[in-house]
Amino acid sequence: MIRLEHVTKRFDSLEVFRDLSLHVADNQIVGVVGPSGSGKTTLLKLVAGMVQADEGTIAVDPGAIGYVFQEPRLLPWRTSLDNVAATLRARGWEKTEARERAAAWIERVGLKGFEDYHPAELSGGMAQRVSIARAFAVDPRVLLLDEPFSNVDLALKDSLMEILQRIIREGQTTVMYVTHDLTEALRLADRIVEITPERRLRELDLSDRRAVAAEWLSASLGKL
Ligand SMILES: Nc1ncnc2c1ncn2[C@@H]1O[C@H](COP(=O)(O)OP(=O)(O)OP(=O)(O)O)[C@@H](O)[C@H]1O
Ligand SMILES: [Mg+2]
Repeated sequence: MIRLEHVTKRFDSLEVFRDLSLHVADNQIVGVVGPSGSGKTTLLKLVAGMVQADEGTIAVDPGAIGYVFQEPRLLPWRTSLDNVAATLRARGWEKTEARERAAAWIERVGLKGFEDYHPAELSGGMAQRVSIARAFAVDPRVLLLDEPFSNVDLALKDSLMEILQRIIREGQTTVMYVTHDLTEALRLADRIVEITPERRLRELDLSDRRAVAAEWLSASLGKL
């Protein structure tokens, strides 16, 4: 469960949100779309407690939060494996178990053989996959995904989405998923909220997902 009530957030004179409320039920997947600068990342950081609201309340189920940041944010001095294992260690996993679990997740995101590489030796998409492995490995109660697949090719995106769907089915995970690709959100999400240019939340009507996708795609095609 994620519950934001009457949240106002300002950065100095810039008001990002005013009186924003959003309730995400247990195990629900909410897609968040909106233009650049509309506050998507800020919304996730508010939920993660990394940014404080000026007004209002934010409640999240107790338990691990898995966070895939918009940029991979790996520790440059640690290998792929250790980036994942260190997060598990910080959450109390014993060293051998943490390394084994980290290795299994590195393999699941298609990086077997790259365990000992450092972030500077990885491509952008590979680094993003390590960050996905790190978020999933903690068995998150709440998963926050900030454009997690923007750096990976279509085939890999497909397989990572399948992993994501499996985790959500297997586990008890509530997901907020930021993307600029509405068709991606339509594929995964139970609900989609749009942050409008006025920074209001608008819930999309998903009773006809194909129609929503068609409208979005035709708007994109119109620009070709
Ligand atoms: N730490 C900060 N200090 C000051 N302003 C900030 C800070 N973080 C974000 N902002 C501002 O808040 C607004 C929303 O930023 P945010 O990063 O949430 O947008 P976004 O929707 O994630 O955009 P994008 O799609 O480009 O990632 C922007 O105007 C940005 O300049
Ligand atoms: Mg962002």
